[in-house]
Amino acid sequence: MKLIVCGGAGFIGSNFVRQRVREHGDDVIVLDKLTYAGRRENLQDLGTDVRLIEGAIEDEVKVAEALAGGADAIVNFAAETHVDRSISGPFAFEETNVRGTMVLLEAARKADLARFVQISTDEVYGSIAEGSFTEESPIVPSSPYSATKAGGDLVVQSYFHTYGLETVICRGSNNYGPYQYPEKLIPLMVLNALHDDKLPVYGDGLNVRNWLYVEDFGRGISHVLAHGAPGEVYNVGGPSECTNMEVVREILAQTGKDESLIEHIDDRLGHDRRYSLGSEKVRALGWEPQMDFSEGLAQTVEWYKANDWWWEPIRSGEFRKYYEQHYGRSLG
Ligand code: TYD
Repeated sequence: MKLIVCGGAGFIGSNFVRQRVREHGDDVIVLDKLTYAGRRENLQDLGTDVRLIEGAIEDEVKVAEALAGGADAIVNFAAETHVDRSISGPFAFEETNVRGTMVLLEAARKADLARFVQISTDEVYGSIAEGSFTEESPIVPSSPYSATKAGGDLVVQSYFHTYGLETVICRGSNNYGPYQYPEKLIPLMVLNALHDDKLPVYGDGLNVRNWLYVEDFGRGISHVLAHGAPGEVYNVGGPSECTNMEVVREILAQTGKDESLIEHIDDRLGHDRRYSLGSEKVRALGWEPQMDFSEGLAQTVEWYKANDWWWEPIRSGEFRKYYEQHYGRSLG
């Protein structure tokens, strides 16, 4: 297959590109803005097997360049994704997650593209106290991040209804695994534990997330790409639900550190209490998650231990300033 993968140098995107190149032998063009979480290093091991175009999805010229040779599908991972950054600076989220998605959709429809896969998130459904969300659940996002992702999803659906563009949407639960930027819970806590830095837990730490190994999500997306019905939404949720405290304790156990490193800090504004995603529809396409959470976490910890070349420039660069500003303390 020939794929254009937008945001393919980010965390989930680069893991997906690796799977498509290695397991499917696809011809992949990556379009990525390379802001901060999108990095050339994330695709380094694929060498010349992937063509990387540096550019934003909201840039019509770059999108046209990526589409120039035609393609079987666009898979769009490109997004601003971090809830905390969306609270302090929401407009970059609107620009990429809504306007960028629209620019891509316009280009896809004009190029008569066969398939458009939008990668989205369980966060568009908001928080749920009990039970799990289905694809029919109302869209009630609570942060500027999830609101702009929801906006993008709605525009994607409008292009199916209005123009007949063959869109599908995959809503993933919280992903974890190699190449995840350390602003997110799991890599942040792993790297802080390895450096004996405090582990900053928001509020009581009893918020629940539905963890999904990034390679399992990639396989789910491939199922939807191949077999999903046009116009449909598919939830892709992980096998495990745990509180943040459970995740943090397991990371401490796996890194051999003790609980004195845990520090409860002021809660995130508007912090969603629980996400839970039902994935019956994608299971009916033949997908199921293969990675158990403890095993996936152990492999992730090992990856971070073995790949300081990857995170060292992050921890000594932009992220260091972000951390000081956001958490009011320095990294060790
Ligand atoms: P995060 O990785 O930001 O993903 P999301 O908010 O999109 O689910 O956060 C996962 C959970 O971890 C969430 O409940 C917030 C919490 N968290 C902390 O307690 N401390 C932190 O420093 C971070 C980044 C997250």
